[in-house]
Parts: sequence; C-alpha cells; structure tokens
Amino acid sequence: MQNLSGKVAAITGGGSGLGRELALRCAARGMKLVLGDVDEAGMQETQRQVEAQNPGTETVTMRLDVSKLEQVQAFADLAKQRFGAAHVIFNNAGVSVGGPVWMNTQADWEWVMGVNLYGVAWGVKAFTPMLIEQGEGHIVNVASAAGWLNGPSMGIYNVTKHSVVALSETLALDLRDVGADNVGVTVLCPAFFPTGIHDSARNRPADKADTLERVDVAAERAAAIKAAVEKGKIKAADIAEMTLKAVEDNQFYVFPHRKIKDLIKLRAAAAEAEKTVFDSMNPF
Ligand SMILES: NC(=O)c1ccc[n+]([C@@H]2O[C@H](COP(=O)([O-])OP(=O)(O)OC[C@H]3O[C@@H](n4cnc5c(N)ncnc54)[C@H](O)[C@@H]3O)[C@@H](O)[C@H]2O)c1
Repeated sequence: MQNLSGKVAAITGGGSGLGRELALRCAARGMKLVLGDVDEAGMQETQRQVEAQNPGTETVTMRLDVSKLEQVQAFADLAKQRFGAAHVIFNNAGVSVGGPVWMNTQADWEWVMGVNLYGVAWGVKAFTPMLIEQGEGHIVNVASAAGWLNGPSMGIYNVTKHSVVALSETLALDLRDVGADNVGVTVLCPAFFPTGIHDSARNRPADKADTLERVDVAAERAAAIKAAVEKGKIKAADIAEMTLKAVEDNQFYVFPHRKIKDLIKLRAAAAEAEKTVFDSMNPF
C-alpha cells in the first residue's frame, strides 16, 4: 500500500514497545488508529504520545486479549464500525517465558502459544476477509529472529515464532491463490531490541500463573536474554519505521538486523552437515 494517509491501522499490543512505536509512525503518516492490548494504561500512554506528536489523530482503543478469537473478531468489528474499514493490520502482541523446555508448565505453553501463535492466527482470521472484500490492505505479522534460529531457554517462544513465519508464508501463498493481489503480507523478524518483552509476566493472566520451578541455568539464561534486549542497538522506533516502509513497498520478509541472515545460512550449513545442533546464542 503506497499511500497510507487517511487509512486505518489496527495494532495489537499497542500499549508498549514496538506496538507503541508502530502507532506513532502510523499517526505520523496520517493514519487512523485502532489499538488493542490487555494493558489499558499502556494504551492511554500511547494515545497521549500520539496526540502530542500528531494532534488530531483519530484513535480508538479496546481492552483486547488476542488469545481469544471472539475478542479479536470484536476488535475487527470495532475498526469497521468506527472507521468503516481496516487497512494495515499489525499482529504484534507477544510474550515470552524462559526455562528448560521439559520444565515449562502447561500454563506456560497455553499462555505463550495463546498470545504469540493464536493471537496472530485470530488476527489473520478476523481481518483477512475484510481486506479481500475491500480489495486492498496489508497484514504485518510480528515474528522474530527466533522464527528461524533457536537459542536455549526460549523453547515455547521459538516454537511460536517459527509458527508465525510458517503461517505468514502460507497466508501470502493462499492470498495469491485466490487472486487477492492487493492484499499484502509482511513477516517481521527482528533480533533483540529494547522493549518490555523481558518483563512479559507483568501482563500474565492469573488463570495461567507462573509456577515454573526456579533453576540456576534458567536464571542465568534469563539474565543474558534481558541484557541482550536492553543492549539492542536498533531501537523499536527504527524497526517500526522499517516495517512501515515494507508495507509501502509490499516487501514480504523484514530482517532489521542484517547479521541474522548470515546466521540462518550457518544454521542451514549445520543442517547440511547433519551432525550437531545449531545454537543461535553461541553460533561460532
Ligand atoms: N523486543 C525484542 O527483543 C523482540 C525481538 C523480536 C520480536 N519481538 C516481538 O515484538 C512484538 C512486540 O513486543 P515488544 O518487544 O514490543 O514487547 P512489549 O512487552 O514492550 O510489548 C508487548 C505488548 O503486548 C501486550 N500483550 C501481552 N499479552 C497480550 C494479550 N494477551 N493480548 C493483547 N496484548 C497483549 C503487552 O501488554 C504489551 O503492551 C512481540 O511479538 C515480540 O515477540 C520482540
């Protein structure tokens, strides 16, 4: 979609990190905003920053749990009722949990799969028919470098992000099959960058509470991942801008961190050699 001015952006996870920066970049392009998040205070802060930077931006917010199909459907309906359409959909909400994968609890699996995988699946399910019917639109699915490369202590997260890459590629092929040429897809695959992702548990629901047994190796890994997130050189604002350019250029894959493509080649070489597992946290 080349001219985004006047169009409607629907952003999940719009109350923090990348979602907030996407909202600010969309507003800067003259878009209307539909924000969804479980964190209502976070969305109010996003709305405040949007208004400060781009006064008069039309914004609507909804308390949204993306793991629930009926809520994501209501989110799509809200965009239609309020603005008559939704054009660029950012399936962005995401959470993370650590721990050796055999120790992760059923609640860990259900929570992270619910947000990271079902959240994207429901976004695709609820919005794609609207985009096909109106004959224009673009879906951005936020995956990760972890959609291609696996490090330790991120098992559930890695599984969900590989799934988001698979879902996005298949979505693009299925849209091609039905001739929906004006509905684009982008899959965003960043490495670590500074946001609230390492503190995902702040928004974890009580019915999926954390009962994971604490072990030293997981604490060390969690500290290393937190440090990697905080030290990330590319900021959420830069990634948001690259993402909007990808929408405007109808670019499918986005790797904001260039070295990730080299690591994917190294992983492919490890697969070719068939001998030892590839470790994205210790690739050489
Ligand atoms: N920060 C990184 O290093 C990094 C790297 C690669 C990919 N990502 C991805 O970027 C996306 C955005 O995450 P972020 O880094 O901005 O983290 P963040 O924690 O700052 O923001 C995530 C937002 O999602 C919201 N959220 C959580 N559960 C939700 C639910 N059930 N329904 C709706 N909203 C919910 C949170 O309230 C929060 O506002 C995620 O998909 C994440 O996996 C992040």
